[in-house]
Formats: sequence, structure tokens, C-alpha cells
Amino acid sequence: MSGAPAYRTKGAARPGRNKVLEIEGLSVHFDLSGGRLLAVRGLSLALAEGRTMGLVGESGCGKSVTAHSILRLIRPPGVIASGRVEYSGRDLLSLDEDEMASIRGGEIAMIFQEPMTSLNPVLTIGYQITETLRTHMGLGTKVARRRAIELLDSVGIGDPARRISAYPHELSGGMRQRVMIAMSLAASPSLLIADEPTTALDVTIQAQILDLLLRLQRERGMSLLLITHDLGVVANVADDVTIMYAGEIVESATVKGLFESPLHPYTKGLFKAIPRIGKRVKRLSTIPGVVPAFTPPPVGCAFYPRCYKAAAECLRGPIPLSSARGHAVRCIRV
Ligand SMILES: Nc1ncnc2c1ncn2[C@@H]1O[C@H](COP(=O)(O)OP(=O)(O)OP(=O)(O)O)[C@@H](O)[C@H]1O
Ligand SMILES: [Mg+2]
Repeated sequence: MSGAPAYRTKGAARPGRNKVLEIEGLSVHFDLSGGRLLAVRGLSLALAEGRTMGLVGESGCGKSVTAHSILRLIRPPGVIASGRVEYSGRDLLSLDEDEMASIRGGEIAMIFQEPMTSLNPVLTIGYQITETLRTHMGLGTKVARRRAIELLDSVGIGDPARRISAYPHELSGGMRQRVMIAMSLAASPSLLIADEPTTALDVTIQAQILDLLLRLQRERGMSLLLITHDLGVVANVADDVTIMYAGEIVESATVKGLFESPLHPYTKGLFKAIPRIGKRVKRLSTIPGVVPAFTPPPVGCAFYPRCYKAAAECLRGPIPLSSARGHAVRCIRV
């Protein structure tokens, strides 16, 4: 055990089955006045049916850009420069916009980082959920309303027949997040992408929302891509974990494997930065330094300036992902 606190992990990972999502060599950049910002660089990952993957890294490392790329939500000056995103055997980057629109919020749903930006403040929550049910499921008004009440009930909203008429501002942060989850589940997605779904909430509510997500994921057999900066969350919820740094994957492994023996110095730093499960912490305050502004791209290892194991050889050229003890790790010093 090398520096990882003793967390209770979710338990034995279920056997991997069909791949629901496969990302190959995804690169995304933003052309800004100061130059080209390489937000995601050659990222590849695969998510199997019914499994949960945690996508972890410091602020700005490219987690949301990755998620938005899956649903083709990158807008100029952002560009998906290269790569392949395959969902259930379909190449999402080459679908036409209509096909993509029916997948978005249908087979693939996303809970966005900012709940208030995805809920319309002037429409009741009932209207917003039934709209999804009508658009994606073709339900009539009455059936959609009944289904919306069931959905609100399933995410733990009390008195759903009354609450369905509420406007977003009439609900607490935790309730709004439950509504977001209900909305995202309306069309029975097989893949749910949850981008920091609990960050804005206090600790008790965070735990409740995570329990809810985990229960729903199990009941529905969904695949879940869970974006978080909190390894404690990953321990409780995920089967697999991918760690990003400066737009690249630096380590990926099963949760059990990662918690037993984190290999990359950055991953080890992440563990040290979390004092206790369930306690919110300042983001990675114990790793000295900050994520580089990656314009132009770093030569060699992007983590070099902050790494306790740094050596001259780390700067000689690109560091490939290689396998070590069942992990994929981008470090030549492990
Ligand atoms: N619309 C945009 N225009 C310019 N730069 C952007 C845009 N969206 C993202 N970026 C940049 O891309 C990089 C990756 O951003 P991203 O939002 O994916 O980070 P993140 O890992 O989700 O961080 P956080 O934990 O804070 O949500 C950052 O440097 C960010 O500033
Ligand atoms: Mg983000």
C-alpha cells in the first residue's frame, strides 16, 4: 500500500461485458487569443455495460471537455480535432445532427456540473420532465405526467404530485439535483454521464445523492461515467477509475487496484490531498504547484514541475501509457 488511505471500496467489480462507450485518441483544443489550448490530448477509454467509471483530476484537466465531446457539445472556439467516440457500435462523431440530438438526453443522458444552467427557471419541473418524456419516449401528456410523478418519487422527492408544479427556485440545491437526475433518467438512458453531480451540495446531501445514483445505476443496469475531483466518491461508487492530468490520462485501473496501489506520482498526490472520506477539501492543496497552462504543449511529462520523482529523462519526449501491475500508467519512473 503506497500512501492510499484505507477506504471502503464498492466491492468486487462486476465482470466486464459489452463495451457501451469507447473513446479512441480524442483530442480537443480551443483556439484562444493567446494561442491554442490543448484541453484533451489523445484520450482513450472504454466503459462496459452496467459499470461505473470515475473520471478524476484537478480543475482544468479536461474532464468536462471530455464529457461534452461525447455528446458533441463542444462549441467554437473549441474543436474536436481528432479521435473516435463509439457508443454501442455507432461512431458518434460522424452522425448527423438529428441523429445526435435523439441520442442526447435519450440513450445518453448527462447531468451537468451547474444544475441551474440546465433547469429552465421559468418552467415548472413537471413541464421540463414531461417534455423529455414526450420528445424522447413519444408519450402523451397524461401518461407523461404520471411517469414524471413516478420519476420524482424514484429520486426521493416527497409529495411528487404537488412538487411537479414547483419552479426550480422553489427547491433546495439537493432537491434540484434530484430533479436533474429524474430528468436525465426520463428517457431510460443506457449511459449516464454525471459531471460533478454533488460538488455544489453539502456533505450529507452529497452522500444521499451518491447513494441515489448508485441505486438507480444498479436497478437500471446503466453505465455511469462519473466525473469528480474526489477519490472518496470514486471509492464508494465506481468500478473503474481514470485519472487525468493536463488533458491526458495519467493512470487508469480498477478502483480496487488503484486504491491498493496507486502508481503515478500524481495519483499518489491526489490520495494525500484527501484527509478523510466525506470531508470536502480544497482541491489538491497538498500537491505543490498548479496545472500548467498547456499552451504550447509540454514536452515530456506534463506533471514534471510538480513531481517528487522527476528526473531529466522525463523531459526527453512524450511519455506513453504503459501497463504496470494491471494499471495503465503514464510514467517512466514507476
Ligand atoms: N469554452 C471554453 N473556452 C476556452 N477554454 C475552455 C472552454 N472550456 C474549457 N476550456 C479549457 O479547457 C481546459 C479543460 O477544461 P474542463 O472544463 O474540461 O476542466 P475540468 O477538468 O472539467 O475542470 P473542473 O474540475 O473545474 O470542472 C481548461 O483549461 C479550460 O479553461
Ligand atoms: Mg468540469
